[in-house]
Amino acid sequence: MSAMRLDKYVCLYTDLSRKEAKATIRKGLVTVEGQNQVHETDKISDQKVWVDGRLLVAKEHIYLMLNKPAGIVSATRDDRDTTVVDIIDCGKRDIFPIGRLDKDTEGLLLLTDDGGLAHRLTSPRYHVPKCYLVQYEGTLVKNAGEILAEGIDIGEREKTLPAQWEELQDGLAKLTISEGKYHQVKRMIARLGGRVTRLRRLTMGPIALDHSLQPGAYRELSEKEVQLLREAAVK
Ligand code: URA
Repeated sequence: MSAMRLDKYVCLYTDLSRKEAKATIRKGLVTVEGQNQVHETDKISDQKVWVDGRLLVAKEHIYLMLNKPAGIVSATRDDRDTTVVDIIDCGKRDIFPIGRLDKDTEGLLLLTDDGGLAHRLTSPRYHVPKCYLVQYEGTLVKNAGEILAEGIDIGEREKTLPAQWEELQDGLAKLTISEGKYHQVKRMIARLGGRVTRLRRLTMGPIALDHSLQPGAYRELSEKEVQLLREAAVK
């Protein structure tokens, strides 16, 4: 971790405001590597910092999985609608969604404050696969699976990349795509003669939606999950 002032570090990894962090340091309640003769301007990088007897666990970045409910937007701020960031309490971290889901799309949405990894996971260079549960109405062309596997013209300069279609029952299928074009799944289904009535993302790369999360609930990714995610975005 790059070096950071002690008061900022304490503020970042506790519930304390910057002012409260400074006051706590001045009261001698903060120790760095066992030493309490510390000053708010001291630089912290890898040292162990204790506040009121509690070791701070400093993570450079945070990685969250949200079961996005329909009706909220995948943005950090919005003048009209509730955003995914509005419903997550993660202290002073500036998190943002990794890619977007439409307002009416549900399911797996990852959020982080790690811009580098987010960029790689959403970059068209890496083709990270995303699986959706698609509920649709209408009758699709007979060879929908083959057309999707070959790539389909949805009005972009190029056809979509090969996608996998798994029909589960009438009007319900799993679709795995490796891109993230605007309304991509809805446009693909429309080209095949159907209309998406409900869309839920189940996976992004190696990460699957944790089905114990109710809509609107979220949890931190485990270290193993973060590692898998990093590996998914390496060429
Ligand atoms: N495709 C869509 O059409 N919408 C989404 O939210 C995600 C993929």
